[in-house]
Amino acid sequence: MCGIIGYIGPNDATPYLLEGLRRMEYRGYDSAGVALYNGTGLEIRRAAGKIAKLDAVLTAEPITGSPGIGHTRWATHGPPVERNAHPHMSGDGTVAVVHNGIIENSTVLRAALEGLGYVFKSDTDTEVLAHLIEELFEGRLEDAVVDALRRVEGTYGIAVISSKDPGKIVAARKGSPLLIGIGEGANFLASDASAILTHTRQVVYLNDGDVAVIEKDRYRVIDIDAQPQRRSVSRIEWDLSEIERGGYDHFMLKEIFEQPRSIENTMRGRLILEDGTAKLGGINLSHEQLMKIDNIVITACGTSWHSALIGELFLEELARIPTEVEYASEFRYRNPIVNERTLCIVISQSGETADTLAAMREAKRRGARTLGLVNVVGSTIAREDDGGVYLHAGPEIGVASTKAFTSQVIALALFTLKLARKRDLSVVRGREIAQALDALPALIEAALKGAPEVERIAEEFKDATNFLYLGRGYNFPAALEGALKLKEISYIHAEGYPAAEMKHGPIALIDEQMPVVFVAPHDSVFDKIVSNIQEVKARGGKTIVITSRDEPSLAGLMDHEIRIPETLDMLMPIVASVPLQLLAYYIAVKRGANVDQPRNLAKSVTVE
Ligand code: F6R
Repeated sequence: MCGIIGYIGPNDATPYLLEGLRRMEYRGYDSAGVALYNGTGLEIRRAAGKIAKLDAVLTAEPITGSPGIGHTRWATHGPPVERNAHPHMSGDGTVAVVHNGIIENSTVLRAALEGLGYVFKSDTDTEVLAHLIEELFEGRLEDAVVDALRRVEGTYGIAVISSKDPGKIVAARKGSPLLIGIGEGANFLASDASAILTHTRQVVYLNDGDVAVIEKDRYRVIDIDAQPQRRSVSRIEWDLSEIERGGYDHFMLKEIFEQPRSIENTMRGRLILEDGTAKLGGINLSHEQLMKIDNIVITACGTSWHSALIGELFLEELARIPTEVEYASEFRYRNPIVNERTLCIVISQSGETADTLAAMREAKRRGARTLGLVNVVGSTIAREDDGGVYLHAGPEIGVASTKAFTSQVIALALFTLKLARKRDLSVVRGREIAQALDALPALIEAALKGAPEVERIAEEFKDATNFLYLGRGYNFPAALEGALKLKEISYIHAEGYPAAEMKHGPIALIDEQMPVVFVAPHDSVFDKIVSNIQEVKARGGKTIVITSRDEPSLAGLMDHEIRIPETLDMLMPIVASVPLQLLAYYIAVKRGANVDQPRNLAKSVTVE
């Protein structure tokens, strides 16, 4: 969602803030701003639009000093215009605040502050914090922040500076990630490790409820009752090159092409080929606990929800455990059947998605054990789950998830293999699956070779206004994911459907204008899907068929064919994802869309 950066040290903060904001621009990019202490007072610069706009404002009207805080915004309250951009200043200009999250009682607080004579300049919920901290200030910034937060309901990651107590940045988190970066003679604050990686690898992840007081040569963490807290220092293990484009036009394309390696990394050291199983060090589930699981609930959002659907099929087919997939956003508002014999698998690339985190907490509250499948190391879900499987896909910067999706499916396959081999699955079948997983990176490599053909197809369909994506069995979730990819980056309306379900409604949409993408590899339901392709052809629809063999039954049915290599049925959606991702990518590029930063979206959705 939004990004927060802070710097305190001997140098001018502005370059650090701008660099950090640029690296976090993928998280929120409708407006940005910085505030810093110039030796006598606070100054701010803000701009609507991308960081480049803020850079231009700072070039025209430079400010210098330290400490400084910065923010890149994804609008919740009020449109993305300069007056709503963060930082927000208090009435007398002595306090500046940046904030991720939502202050739920801002209306009440605003009315009370207006009653005290404060004049609001923005439509945001954040501005109440600035005024409230000014109102409560009695000498130490951290005391005023703590006092203010006691009156606040909602979620936040905040950074605050004050000209009345200028030697520090005070930060606090509840539901929105923040970390302290420990430098030499300087310290940093960020919502995302990528923002500070060029300066330090030593970080302290803040927990919900933490308040941090960051000075240039020390920091301390307290809780909302001002009690000191001990937090350990972690080391960021990935490299800067992983968050740079490396010669590709977009992060999304780079991440699509990284998949042979990213899935290899998800599997590294985990597959045991001879035993047909997997070794997963972090799941924290004993043999007895694995044997006691009665049912599994998988909860996630968006793309991660699509991988969950594939996981459900794995778990039921191979481990024979009743499994349900729940949208995280719905899960906690109903009365799910979850108890201490339930395993709740939580899937999240970012590990910060507010709905998913809340669903996981609800599952825990009901006594379930939780297992997080998370990409971002040190993220909140990864720290709060009972056990986990890190995806190790490397940082995913493109807003549209690609390599994290395929790694999620791999992680689900590994976990299923482990669980199934303990319960119902023969070693022979286990070995077959393990070997197929092992061979997968090469197949993804081969599927990527089809990129030029996919690009040609994209050229033909770039002006379409609607798309249907159809698949059956394991490839129905792949179809859903293909449709999501297309709509989020190209803004073309697209729907995914189980292919046979089409005749119960969506078939009415088929005409000569309607491209229909079939995910139809040669698997156990291939003959069935051929009939569905015929139904579309008979109505003049344009078919783009992703398939894996020369099949006489497809003759005359494919306006376009995309050939992918074959593997086990259960792993086909991973291979099929490659052309689906590429098709969305090339169509979006040809339409002139900003694929890495699609409108209205943000990489990590930390509001409900
Ligand atoms: C789609 C996409 C989103 C995310 C969803 C969940 O390309 O990226 O649909 O999958 O917001 O995010 P995570 O996996 O971070 O919980």
